[in-house]
Amino acid sequence: MTAESSLATITAYDEIEYPTSIFNPTQPDRLATVARLAGLNPPPVETARVLEIAGGDGMNLLALGVAYPGAEFISFDLAQTAVARGEAWREAAGLDNVRVLTMDILDAADALDGEFDYIIAHGLYAWVPQHVRDATMALIGRKLSANGVAFVSYNALPGGYLRHAVRDALNFALEGVPREDRKAVATQTLEALAAETPPPEFAPVTAFRESAKQALRKGWPVLCHDELGDSFKPEALINVVRNAEANGLRFLGDADRERMSDTFLPPNVEADEDVETQIVRLTQASDYRNFNFFRMTLLVRAEQVPSRSLDHDALNDLYVSSRAIRHAPGTYRITEKALEFSDDVLIAMMDRLVDAYPNRIKVSDLVDSPELRTVIFRLFDASFVDLSTLPPIWATSVSERPLASPLVRTMLAEKMTVVCRLDHRLMTIGDDAARRLLAQLDGTRTRADLTETARAVGLMDDAALEGALASYARECVLVA
Ligand SMILES: C[S@@+](CC[C@H](N)C(=O)[O-])C[C@H]1O[C@@H](n2cnc3c(N)ncnc32)[C@H](O)[C@@H]1O
Repeated sequence: MTAESSLATITAYDEIEYPTSIFNPTQPDRLATVARLAGLNPPPVETARVLEIAGGDGMNLLALGVAYPGAEFISFDLAQTAVARGEAWREAAGLDNVRVLTMDILDAADALDGEFDYIIAHGLYAWVPQHVRDATMALIGRKLSANGVAFVSYNALPGGYLRHAVRDALNFALEGVPREDRKAVATQTLEALAAETPPPEFAPVTAFRESAKQALRKGWPVLCHDELGDSFKPEALINVVRNAEANGLRFLGDADRERMSDTFLPPNVEADEDVETQIVRLTQASDYRNFNFFRMTLLVRAEQVPSRSLDHDALNDLYVSSRAIRHAPGTYRITEKALEFSDDVLIAMMDRLVDAYPNRIKVSDLVDSPELRTVIFRLFDASFVDLSTLPPIWATSVSERPLASPLVRTMLAEKMTVVCRLDHRLMTIGDDAARRLLAQLDGTRTRADLTETARAVGLMDDAALEGALASYARECVLVA
């Protein structure tokens, strides 16, 4: 351990636990998809070695560990209480391919063996002092495999200035406030900042008020770390990329579904002599234009040279799916977004995807022209379809002896109301019936065996039981 390491100490994250969570854009399959679209050859996700830096209780990797039993996952964090919690869940779920460790970033490069194909650092970079940021980037530089991909998220500039203003206002209000009163005073302060004032409003005040409202919605356990932690320094993408470059890494793009096109030159822009600098500058300029708040920057080794125009052959080899619901003929909805097509070919394509879900279809089996492939990419960039390097890794229909993810069953036993799906999303367990039925799906019971439980939880006929089981398949929580 280095002199600066603080492993023996109780950290702020031990004193107030950060809520457990998973984060969909960190999944290695997304990272591999972006790399493939840029003509690179990232390691196969199903056998990859994956590292998460400052992964808290490790839930993000536990969820991936169930989905990819042939891959190896290591999550580490300084907060021992979080690690102990995650380790207990790991053991209960029987996930031998995941390790959740207590470790300081400052020690990790020497302490960890071997290289990693995918490295994740989510919610860390903008919240730690400069020497820890530098150590994080150096760790990625040392440990990323030759064709691996790393994910680094941070509070970005210029949007971060607004969040910083909320922090300043909170710190001002909390000056001299005893520890036990901080939560109440912080809440009152945010409520006052978020309160409406009579119109006409000055637009920046409205934006600041929105920022205060967002902070208020987070709840104290997140607020006291995210907004009020010791370190908070939103960073410009260009500076993150410079730090990465100093460690032998290169900007690839962004993992955010609505920023997939950051990897590529816009169609109307000619490549400069130094297209790599051009891409980074264009992306930074778009952050200023859009007042961007958050970045999920993807990095590869400097020796990897991405294609800065979409690789259609690579797209052909990927798999596509859509969680959209058909609202009316030609109209599809996904969460609050709607999409309307009038072209019959596009309608037929979307209908096939919607009907096949939760199955994935190989892009080359779905479309056969560059134009349609470009449409698929645009739909991906707009979050209407998912692209993946693999066929489904979950059961797409209900088997004779349904088997729910062991992590889901562990989470249910822990009385959690939100559980991890195999597609790295969350599922809210709405009622006790679902909780009790899902807990029975351990692969030993036939559908007939489940009838008794079904009746006991209020599913009064076979159709109701079949409907519930089919909904679990659709929610991607069945392993078999
Ligand atoms: C905002 S939390 C994010 C946790 C998790 N990645 C997530 O998104 O839920 C930041 C985490 O960084 C960890 N951390 C801070 N400094 C660290 C260090 N030097 N070494 C390891 N972990 C550290 C904290 O313990 C905390 O769990």
